[in-house]
Amino acid sequence: MSGPVAVRPCTAEDGDAVVALWTACGLVVPWNDPAADFALALSKSSSTVLAAVAAERIVATAMVGQDGHRGWLYYVAVDPVLQGQGLGRRMVAEAEGWLAAAGMPKVQLLVRETNQRVLAFYERLGYARSPVTMMQKWLTNPSP
Ligand SMILES: CC(C)(COP(=O)(O)OP(=O)(O)OC[C@H]1O[C@@H](n2cnc3c(N)ncnc32)[C@H](O)[C@@H]1OP(=O)(O)O)[C@@H](O)C(=O)NCCC(=O)NCCS
Repeated sequence: MSGPVAVRPCTAEDGDAVVALWTACGLVVPWNDPAADFALALSKSSSTVLAAVAAERIVATAMVGQDGHRGWLYYVAVDPVLQGQGLGRRMVAEAEGWLAAAGMPKVQLLVRETNQRVLAFYERLGYARSPVTMMQKWLTNPSP
């Protein structure tokens, strides 16, 4: 990729571009409203969405947040045309830096069963599979 890439926290005006990127990357599923996810992350001081910007266009993101105990990554996404050039590694590093600055000792993420091929990417970045079972329950609308 030519030209500088700057990483910054998103603002509300970035919402449409970010949702378009997440959609292009296959990260949007029926049980999550991506625009609502974006707005919620920006509304809390304990979370944000980081964006990589090249030529005034958002080309990659990472949603990052901390729950007072652990740091979490969501919506790590790179424009499909620009994948394989180090942007994913850069976004994860930026998110890790954000969490370290927030005092978090550990970062965690969830990988969908349908996205197993991304495991190799995270393993390359030093992440290891964790022998845990996630359980969940919605506090809003019933979902699968
Ligand atoms: C996963 C994703 C973010 C990776 O971004 P990327 O910019 O292509 O990755 P990078 O170029 O930064 O790769 C970083 C390293 O991981 C390796 N890597 C990337 N994808 C890999 C894969 N599928 N298998 C093995 N290694 C992989 C690269 O070779 C590179 O290694 P190196 O830096 O040691 O040379 C990107 O492919 C993407 O947006 N995918 C769709 C959305 C998605 O699945 N997000 C994750 C949700 S959990």
